[in-house]
Amino acid sequence: MDKKQRKIVIVGDGSVGSSFAFSLVQNCALDELVIVDLVKQHAEGDVKDLEDVAAFTNATNIHTGEYTDAHDADIVVITAGVPRKPGESRLDLINRNTKILESIVKPVVASGFNGCFVISSNPVDILTSMTQRLSGFPRNRVIGTGTSLDTARLRVALAQKLHVSTNAVNAAVLGEHGDSSIVNFDEITVNEQPLATVTTVDEQFKTEIEQAVRGKGGQIINQKGATFYGVAISLMQICRAILNDENAELIVSAALSGQYGINDLYLGSPAIINRNGLQKVIEADLSEDERTRMQHFATKMLAMMNVAS
Ligand code: 2OP
Repeated sequence: MDKKQRKIVIVGDGSVGSSFAFSLVQNCALDELVIVDLVKQHAEGDVKDLEDVAAFTNATNIHTGEYTDAHDADIVVITAGVPRKPGESRLDLINRNTKILESIVKPVVASGFNGCFVISSNPVDILTSMTQRLSGFPRNRVIGTGTSLDTARLRVALAQKLHVSTNAVNAAVLGEHGDSSIVNFDEITVNEQPLATVTTVDEQFKTEIEQAVRGKGGQIINQKGATFYGVAISLMQICRAILNDENAELIVSAALSGQYGINDLYLGSPAIINRNGLQKVIEADLSEDERTRMQHFATKMLAMMNVAS
């Protein structure tokens, strides 16, 4: 039997799509990478630029394409959408990006695509939920980048504050990738010791860390117009876990079915990712207050989705 080809289609070749492709050809063995974008000339330029990387990393067969190229792909990654401008929240993008999402998901499904969707466009939890609804795919085959980036930012903020290496910090951000994200401070460890044994975890400490996590995307946008490297790595990690059947525990926007008291919505949570996509959601320990905040956001999210769809 022929070896199964490993193929990814990227929809959206802006800063995120392009950085993701760069990360992918360095970190993940692929047989075919297809870049789909309305601006063909830019995508063709990106293909040529990535071919130069391919010579160093042994990646092969990178080309531009159309939605029909998804028919035999393992993964379709959607990065397309209007990005945030300075001062905008992710939720401000919902109407514009829902329309863009519809124009992508329908033709991809019509191509006969039978793999996993991975989404990073914002507001990511809403657009991931919408992708599942629009595609009618089983929920395990739709995944969003969720709070993986917020988690990275949390680990960096704590490492800088406590003067330790990022690797020493075990921490997670859950719920919305955005202003309602939840840092469950009680579960954080530093060098495997509970955070509260390493430093004073009072309200001032919590507020400072939460602001660092929530504000960083906006700061980057103010300073350089967009954020893309962090989310690119997050996308790469999810795709690699799927293609390599890794059973990796990652923080993603995961389909919740009762976890945290929430159903039928995607929100940031630890989950096991393998060839089946989202193999299992791992419910993190949250305090009553944190669960209530997450449920409150879920109610708001549902209302926004019903208006947008
Ligand atoms: C970020 O947080 C824009 O959602 C993206 O960097």
